[in-house]
Amino acid sequence: MPNLCIVGLQWGDEGKGKIVDYYAEKFDGVVRYNGGSNAGHTIVIGTKTYVFHLLPSGCLQRKKLYIGPGVAVDPQTLSEEVKMLKKQGFDPKVLVDGRCTVVTPLEKEMDSLIEGLRGKNAIGTTKRGIGPSYAMRALRLTPRAGDLERGTFDFSSALSFYRRLMDNIPSLDGWTKQAREALRGIVGDVGERIMEANEDGESVLFEGAQGVLLDLIHGTYPYVTGTHTLASYVPASLGIPTRSLGEVMGVAKAYTTRVGEGPFPTEIHGPLEKEIREKGKEYGATTGRPRRVGWLDLVALRYAVKINGVSELALTKLDILTRVKEMKACTAYKMNGKTTSEFSEALPVLGSVVPVYEELPDFYGEELSSKRLSRRVEKFLEFLEDRLKVRVTLVSMGEERTATHIRAS
Ligand code: IMP
Ligand code: MG
Repeated sequence: MPNLCIVGLQWGDEGKGKIVDYYAEKFDGVVRYNGGSNAGHTIVIGTKTYVFHLLPSGCLQRKKLYIGPGVAVDPQTLSEEVKMLKKQGFDPKVLVDGRCTVVTPLEKEMDSLIEGLRGKNAIGTTKRGIGPSYAMRALRLTPRAGDLERGTFDFSSALSFYRRLMDNIPSLDGWTKQAREALRGIVGDVGERIMEANEDGESVLFEGAQGVLLDLIHGTYPYVTGTHTLASYVPASLGIPTRSLGEVMGVAKAYTTRVGEGPFPTEIHGPLEKEIREKGKEYGATTGRPRRVGWLDLVALRYAVKINGVSELALTKLDILTRVKEMKACTAYKMNGKTTSEFSEALPVLGSVVPVYEELPDFYGEELSSKRLSRRVEKFLEFLEDRLKVRVTLVSMGEERTATHIRAS
């Protein structure tokens, strides 16, 4: 079986955790390839809710877990998540790539300081040090996981360098010891291991964090994360051939959310916003912040499908929309006296576009069943498929693994 990549198509929080957990069963390993503990992947099994920030969401399916070199690793989060899983009777086998960027207390402090200095222009980061650690990586001032594990990184000269950059930096004395402990014996070459696994007939699932619209280059800059979120980052970051990527499955929520600042053309204000937020439990899994809520934006989603080469779509949280009577979706933007349905054209002025809505086939009051989809739900899906030019192959209608319907492709 070929590998598969699962990628978020909006501003994150599309429900990738559940979809990755669902598909992980069929694969030998699951690979995180981007972001860091800014992510919050929620998985519900029975009465238990798990939230992972760093470990791949395949951990509950007892799969091999890989953290690729494009990930920013916070050793503290890593050891906490491993400990938590062990307590619950799991025995996670993690391989962290030696070339991963390490997040130290310095970058977390920088993240908070920079956000504070930005004042009303703050990005609304998760303050997990992600942006600063990639920046420090580009400045070649931060250790990689392998440097830290081997103890070959010269923290004292880095600290004196930082000190010249910043006042009030935290001490790293206790941290270094604990961080090395967290990485002891689990650092290696993830790309090499994946190529070997594929040679041996094993297949892996590449798990994206965040969403396309938060990509550092292709997203809503500067309101983006510090890394790349596109499926094409998988081979580039892991150092594996492009053909190893396999098919790309996109995950989109049946409405839109965004946490943090930045343009959001289809944002809803008022009672419906609150209703969707409560029903959909739309609070950040990492920061607890209320997520902004909006209608489905098919202009943005078509762009995401296109630039990722998405070949099938998983649509999540349909159950939340059974509460919405008059549904609509944005199918174009008005801008500078013209109308466009090309997201890339609108991107530079996204904050001032006016969304053009079309009525969406609704399924108000429907009792959704994972066994069979009703005619009304099918109509809704067909509308989306027509606009997005991609087949919806999975429909999620609840947090549980079982609340999932597979549609023929
Ligand atoms: P950072 O990644 O912490 O630097 O935050 C930059 C922007 O990305 C902020 O708007 C965050 O709210 C957003 N962000 C980062 N990670 C996630 C995620 O996993 N889900 C949703 N939004 C995220
Ligand atoms: Mg999340």
